[in-house]
Amino acid sequence: MSEQKTLKVTIPLLLEKKLAGEKITALTAYDYPTAKIVDQAGIDLILVGDSLGMVVLGYENTIPVTMEEMLHHTKAVTRGVQRALVVGDMPYFSFHLSPEETVRNAARFLKEAGAKAVKIEGATRKRLKLIETLVEAEIPVMGHVGLTPQSLYHLGRFKVRGNREEEARRIVQGAEKLQNAGAFAVVLECVPLELARVVTQKLTIPTIGIGAGPECDGQILVFHDLVGYSNGYLPKFVKRFIELNKLLPPAIEAYVSEVKAGSFPADEQSYHLKKDIDLEEVLSVQKK
Ligand code: KIV
Repeated sequence: MSEQKTLKVTIPLLLEKKLAGEKITALTAYDYPTAKIVDQAGIDLILVGDSLGMVVLGYENTIPVTMEEMLHHTKAVTRGVQRALVVGDMPYFSFHLSPEETVRNAARFLKEAGAKAVKIEGATRKRLKLIETLVEAEIPVMGHVGLTPQSLYHLGRFKVRGNREEEARRIVQGAEKLQNAGAFAVVLECVPLELARVVTQKLTIPTIGIGAGPECDGQILVFHDLVGYSNGYLPKFVKRFIELNKLLPPAIEAYVSEVKAGSFPADEQSYHLKKDIDLEEVLSVQKK
């Protein structure tokens, strides 16, 4: 592995990348083997996103995802990661009741699951205050504006955000306020690239885009979308780099036919009795 690939990614390193104009690569992961592959491929930041609920757990949206589910999967991911910065996503209702509960939940990502930071959706006044409180408690926070899936019931449906002046202003100001509150990076989800460009130029912290065009400081995608292992609606911003949904069924079907035909397992996948064991003897002892 090259030095570039083995050097642990830290928050200062992400800031250096922005200053150097070097793109930050980010991807979600939710389990140990995937985290290992993603980390070894040289990804800088792994987000254990609450998209877990939709792409792995089969929920309709991210609202039902619990802290326990997030911690369970974050633990699996950190076990597989040596280099990337792992960020745990604060699920819906883990930061809504009180600052105390928010800090306690966020700290669990660091203390129990081994993440190095958390992500929180939104930039309302209350949310910004919470982020200040978390940063004060030494918990690094990544912000998230634009389309925020946990606001689904408010928004009605997932669509591009920031096409109206008031909304565009709220996104730009929200990102700036997140930076002022101490966030180390901001995810910009599903916003016009012109808006993402302005935000990226204004901020000193990195912007990580998903459906926000090529001028963000970094890019993130949901792993299952990238590898073609997710179902249902696929947003315009997703590019499938491989089609696992198409590659896997023929392999499973081949397994089913071979088992049915008796051709799997073949001799090469089978064990033989050691020569010094007398099967006759084994059988005769069994009878006694
Ligand atoms: O939950 C998630 O995966 C996310 C990314 C899409 C940024 O929030």
